[in-house]
Amino acid sequence: MRRIVILTGAGVSADSGLGTFRDKGGLWSRYDLSEVATPEGFARNPAAVHDFYNLRRANALDAAPNAAHVALARLQAARDGVTLVTQNIDDLHERGGSGAVIHMHGQVTRALCNACGARWDAPRVMAPGDACPACGAAATRPDVVWFGEVPYHMERIAGALASCDLFVAIGTSGEVYPAAGFVEEAARFGAETLEINLEPSAPGRFDRVIGGPAVEAVPDWVDEVLGT
Ligand code: OAD
Repeated sequence: MRRIVILTGAGVSADSGLGTFRDKGGLWSRYDLSEVATPEGFARNPAAVHDFYNLRRANALDAAPNAAHVALARLQAARDGVTLVTQNIDDLHERGGSGAVIHMHGQVTRALCNACGARWDAPRVMAPGDACPACGAAATRPDVVWFGEVPYHMERIAGALASCDLFVAIGTSGEVYPAAGFVEEAARFGAETLEINLEPSAPGRFDRVIGGPAVEAVPDWVDEVLGT
């Protein structure tokens, strides 16, 4: 059976109303990335960083999964050998029905203690003075990966890329490493590569490109894979 690794980005949640980062009017045109998405920015102004992620969390919790999330869950349920990796910090894959989701950039719905490493479900609103439920330190942060930090689950992802037959990137601009390099990594191990995106992110980088909004293109592709 063909083993498939799927990497999703902000484009898969765009039709659920969550903004992307680099499209016109995207998050990084409205916020200074170095202030809100780095450990240094958090050290300088934790309240501003919490405000940024409190808004991300509220938007994510108020959003509903779309047809692309649901189709990927249908694919995972219908066959073995599908590894779903996401750069997204929202929980829309899970609420769309996916059981196993690898959140390489963490989850905005989770909290992390910078002092003891404990993790727990984040409250809707986090603040700099919040105490860690495990050690009591006022060192809590959203459990997301910032620029300059190492993404989560990299060994597991490398293993899946090395043994997959098909690598599919959906709704990601391919600008942020290491995720941006997964296509080359998979290809080096002999996998076919497919991009599904509103517009091709890098012509020539993938064996095949399917253009269009994820809500239409992903269910169609899942039907193709399942022969439905
Ligand atoms: P980007 O904002 O960089 O890219 C979003 C991609 O989705 C673009 O290629 C769009 O063309 C595409 N897109 C937009 N709407 C779409 C739709 N309706 N259907 C299909 N595709 C659509 O977002 P990411 O690639 O996810 O990291 O960004 C990667 C990382 O950069 C994020 O995880 C985040 C960010 O900085 C951190 O914060 C560490």
